[in-house]
Amino acid sequence: MATVASSMSVSLDGYVTGPNDSRQHPLGEGGERLHRWLAGEDHTPADAEVLGEMVRDAGAIVMGRRSYDICEGDGGWGDGGPAGDIPCFVVTHEPPATAAPVFTFVTDGVASAIEQAKAVAGDDGWVGLHGATTAQQALAAGLVDEIQVHLIPVLMGGGVRLFDNIGGKPIDLERTRVVQTPQATHVRYRVVR
Ligand SMILES: NC(=O)c1ccc[n+]([C@@H]2O[C@H](COP(=O)([O-])OP(=O)(O)OC[C@H]3O[C@@H](n4cnc5c(N)ncnc54)[C@H](OP(=O)(O)O)[C@@H]3O)[C@@H](O)[C@H]2O)c1
Repeated sequence: MATVASSMSVSLDGYVTGPNDSRQHPLGEGGERLHRWLAGEDHTPADAEVLGEMVRDAGAIVMGRRSYDICEGDGGWGDGGPAGDIPCFVVTHEPPATAAPVFTFVTDGVASAIEQAKAVAGDDGWVGLHGATTAQQALAAGLVDEIQVHLIPVLMGGGVRLFDNIGGKPIDLERTRVVQTPQATHVRYRVVR
């Protein structure tokens, strides 16, 4: 069965964006700092290996409509999705009139989107959760197998928080791997059930 994993870059104070995320500032004001480990002069071989694993193992993506609107807009990802032609299931109350074929819009909730994503990801694949509210709903519903945090040494001071509204009770985690680079501490946790 595919592994369902939330994988996001997070500031030390728990934000996946800076303040005021928008089409103009997809990761919020100053939030591009969170993705500096992905490319450019700060991108080390160890960061590249973590990124390579994510791309290699991704079978499908589940994201919220805000992530889609803010990042895709009118062609932000070209003809594909955030990971090229990897199928991407967008949870929304109202699908857009048109979209690239890689996107499927799901109006009956996160659990349904995850089920559809697992069906196409294959047994060894990985369903990546993008956007805070989708990850939160999936965690609260007990649908997440793994949390991957790319912890960035910055205090954002505002923005979209990753771990709010996760069901009001503790979720136990087992740390399974840590990779340290100057720009990020890449930590994997297994959700203990
Ligand atoms: N740091 C990182 O690695 C990283 C990774 C990914 C994304 N991000 C950032 O995260 C931000 C977006 O996160 P977010 O938490 O604000 O929003 P989100 O999860 O991307 O989207 C939330 C929206 O999805 C729809 N939705 C969510 N649950 C639903 C449900 N059960 N049924 C129907 N529709 C549902 C609703 O939109 P409608 O009501 O409009 O349909 C809701 O407003 C963006 O700024 C993005 O750039 C950061």
